[in-house]
Amino acid sequence: MDKVSFETLAIRTQATQSEHREHSTPLFLTSSFTFENAEHGSAIFNGSEQGNLYSRFSNPNTDEFIRKLCLLEKYDAGIATASGMAAVYTSLVAFIQQGDHIIASKNSFGNTLYIIQHILPKMGVEYTLVDLEDHTAWQESIRDNTKIIYLETPSNPTLKIADLEFLSNICKKNNIISIVDNCFATPYLQNPSDFGIDICIHSATKYIDGQGRVLGGAILGSNEHIKPCYNFIRRTGACLSPFNAWILSKSIETLAMRMDRHCSNAMTIATWLDQHPQVENVIYPFLTSMESYALAKKQMKLGGGLVGFTIKGNKNSAFNLLNNLKLHSLTANLGDTRSIATHPASTTHSKLDEKQLIDAGISSNFIRLSVGLENIDDLIIDIDSSLKKTK
Ligand SMILES: Cc1ncc(COP(=O)(O)O)c(C=O)c1O
Repeated sequence: MDKVSFETLAIRTQATQSEHREHSTPLFLTSSFTFENAEHGSAIFNGSEQGNLYSRFSNPNTDEFIRKLCLLEKYDAGIATASGMAAVYTSLVAFIQQGDHIIASKNSFGNTLYIIQHILPKMGVEYTLVDLEDHTAWQESIRDNTKIIYLETPSNPTLKIADLEFLSNICKKNNIISIVDNCFATPYLQNPSDFGIDICIHSATKYIDGQGRVLGGAILGSNEHIKPCYNFIRRTGACLSPFNAWILSKSIETLAMRMDRHCSNAMTIATWLDQHPQVENVIYPFLTSMESYALAKKQMKLGGGLVGFTIKGNKNSAFNLLNNLKLHSLTANLGDTRSIATHPASTTHSKLDEKQLIDAGISSNFIRLSVGLENIDDLIIDIDSSLKKTK
């Protein structure tokens, strides 16, 4: 086959079949792997022969998962991690040294900001936080010791869009490593590699699992960039378990179909909320009213499964809306088949102080919807009746 499509790669990339000729990849639930003889063991340990040794280093299930993601994200190499946060932390720590400087988007996931603001400074790493969409701020924050530029796009939870081509160009010019968290878009909607981004990371816990079952993550990039990440994971142990890799690899088989439905449901809800009298403002990358619409269209195939909106009123109005929902789950996850409503200011981003919340655009009446795969009419009826009770 010459050029194989996303769906086919997602379904047909599989671990080598065993002598049992299984159709579906089995679960390789084993901590270690045996050697044919002492010479073979020695060769595997010294790297002169390839092979599995110990599941903290490699395993057929994690290999299948990462090989699939590399093909879908168009990178040569990758490493699977125990969670999205393990991917975030590893992608930063594998490259930095005391005295280095990182520029990161202030519109990043709360725990990512915690690592940058509270953990890395203990290792002597400096940081500057900038608005994701402010080109001048990115450019002007570059110093001689800047090692990494880090961002998410669309960002959590305000769905801001970074200009990936612009950022990868300034990184190349200044010898900086560019890292993008592609968790909200997934490889089906956006490939940071298309714009020259060095490293792409994922929380596979979200859309890649897609059913709210397991945690996992991945780091993808060139062989040169993945080598230090692999060494860090192999030695510190934040590896993905074979069981979670098995679940996640099978989940990727249906990613395209699920994302199509997440996006069409989300687009319908965003459009509906946009004309609702109790709604102040709606954020969705593919709404034509968004300032970043043209950029989102350039970078993404569809608008994604998340919708943000501010309800008229205050924090109580947002809480009342959440409390009156019957179908939507109140939980901190996203990217599930089940629709989820979240109040970021008091949950996912509650570690940010007031100024940081304002900076990140997270007001007390802001709500994030992770639009699931339920029937769209049922979802709209649920939000509509809750809004009616919230009046
Ligand atoms: C954008 C983003 N990156 C990373 C993470 C962390 O992922 P995990 O929960 O798998 O550690 C999250 C979690 O919500 C997220 O939203």
